[in-house]
Amino acid sequence: MAPQISPSILSADFAALGVEVERIADAADWVHVDVMDNHFVPNLTLGLPIVEALLRTSRLPLDCHLMIEDPDRWAPQYAEAGAKSVTIHAEAASAPIRTLRTIRAAGARAGLGVNPATPVDRFEDILGEIDMLLLMTVEPGFGGQRFLDVVLPKVRRARDLIKGRDLDVWLQVDGGVSAETIERCAEAGADVFVAGSAVYGADDPSEAIRGLRAQAEK
Ligand code: DX5
Ligand code: ZN
Repeated sequence: MAPQISPSILSADFAALGVEVERIADAADWVHVDVMDNHFVPNLTLGLPIVEALLRTSRLPLDCHLMIEDPDRWAPQYAEAGAKSVTIHAEAASAPIRTLRTIRAAGARAGLGVNPATPVDRFEDILGEIDMLLLMTVEPGFGGQRFLDVVLPKVRRARDLIKGRDLDVWLQVDGGVSAETIERCAEAGADVFVAGSAVYGADDPSEAIRGLRAQAEK
């Protein structure tokens, strides 16, 4: 699959979210929305009401990344609201298969998020339940952190597992993805790239996205 770029609005101006999403609409594939509950991660961002407001205004599909406890309870609502991709964290879900199926049944792509220190091999048997595997390349919770190179072997491993089963599971990397690190991620097998500070920290976010895409395509 051609590389896709999913800019994270975590680094955007929260007082002007509609405008911030419009600024990337001509260049991005998705809008990555980081939902944090101050329990699963030590930060609090936004929830369903703001996602619903974004759904009303955004021309791009929403890629909702739920960094929350009890995703089994909350994730289906994001899919039902109209988010085209909903990712739950493996470390937080108590019934991931049921929840992933519920997300799919509501018409969204089902994503499974995996923290840097969580091995990916344990999910091999449920890859068929997943449309996207999100590998965190920083500890979740904040934008602007340094990319963790130690996760790259896991990106390779995940790509091998997906290939080995002949599945069409997208492989997303999230955290510290920038002009300096995106080529390493692509080379390891990632095909969906989240970038927060590298996009919204740039003077021209659309131009930054085009630059990232060109590097991922190399
Ligand atoms: C971190 C979030 C990321 C974050 C990435 O927990 O999941 O999506 O916004 O930000 P950067 O690209 O700045 O690392
Ligand atoms: Zn994220």
